[in-house]
Amino acid sequence: MEKIRIINLAKRYGKVAAADAVTFSVDDKEFFSLLGPSGCGKSTVLRCVAGLEEPSEGEIYIGETRVNSTADGINVPTEFRPIGMVFQNYAVWPHMTVHDNVAYPLKLKKLPNQLIETKLKEALHTVGLERLADRYPSQLSGGEQQRVALARALIKEPEVLLLDEPLSNLDAKLREQMRFELKDLQRRTGIPILYVTHDQTEALAMSDRLAVMNAGRIVQVGAPAEIYTRPANRFVADFIGLMNFVPGRILSRSGDEATVEFLYGRRLDVIDRSGLNGACVVAVRPEDISFSSAAAMRCRVEVCSYSGHLIDYMVRADGAVLRVQTPKTEIHKEGDELGLAFTRALLFAANPS
Ligand SMILES: Nc1ncnc2c1ncn2[C@@H]1O[C@H](COP(=O)(O)OP(=O)(O)OP(=O)(O)O)[C@@H](O)[C@H]1O
Ligand SMILES: [Mg+2]
Repeated sequence: MEKIRIINLAKRYGKVAAADAVTFSVDDKEFFSLLGPSGCGKSTVLRCVAGLEEPSEGEIYIGETRVNSTADGINVPTEFRPIGMVFQNYAVWPHMTVHDNVAYPLKLKKLPNQLIETKLKEALHTVGLERLADRYPSQLSGGEQQRVALARALIKEPEVLLLDEPLSNLDAKLREQMRFELKDLQRRTGIPILYVTHDQTEALAMSDRLAVMNAGRIVQVGAPAEIYTRPANRFVADFIGLMNFVPGRILSRSGDEATVEFLYGRRLDVIDRSGLNGACVVAVRPEDISFSSAAAMRCRVEVCSYSGHLIDYMVRADGAVLRVQTPKTEIHKEGDELGLAFTRALLFAANPS
């Protein structure tokens, strides 16, 4: 069942279309991310769902309730939307203890004290902060403060959680760890999450599905593996993961099988549903290139970079500079002359319209 439904949403600031023709939905129990470069309109969409911005066009449903309709003049105020929110600066109150910070939304609602204490225990337990209830935010780490903000969002038992770059103030190690904690929390509570990030690794790692945005519009919606292996266009291919792009030419095609020539005569048979013919751009992931002594195509290792779990190379081949990644066990030196083999490639239009 859909928990958030956004239909043809637009938000304009003067002549700037921060969001345009945005349509997607988030299912029950789903972790759904909006991903895209800075300024592409992610926060604008989230703020419209939260009721912090009024859309210029479109409709938004949360559960069964239509919270926005520009056509029918509906704009339900934030406080009446069944949402919990956490932003980048988690905005915990420094003069209140963890207990008081988290209890605050229920105090506002003037619920009986005993009920507040019961719900508070539950919320602190969910985020693993039971033992820190009496501390002040200044006595907590960034990750713990972030969990206070989450507990405060959860205590209202919202139908959906809206999170805008909640991990970006944390250091790299903690951010990585919190990814799992957040996903685990989502699985335990079953609350659907609409998550905003410009960090593609984060979006791929946490989401059930994600929408990639560019310049106010959604360019692709899909599961992480689908977006990574079958990017809808060159923008997505470039934005998600690492990708080499080299000019090429499609020599022949039979249905979804095409033979492409690139890098001065290198030929490769690829599965390709683009229907393109003639000049194209050949896109190859670094892990889809390997070093092979038998390969006719030669390259020179220019830079070798050790990344622990893999080795990252910059190589020069026929004038092109390519990124190649190999398992950590396969070590070559800068200056080595090697053969290159390609296992998989994607084709895009040479001059996208
Ligand atoms: N209140 C505003 N007035 C005018 N323009 C705005 C306003 N809020 C946002 N914008 C513009 O709308 C566009 C989208 O902004 P938005 O904050 O949604 O981007 P974002 O994808 O969240 O970016 P980031 O990753 O940097 O947070 C930007 O060009 C921004 O300058
Ligand atoms: Mg933003």
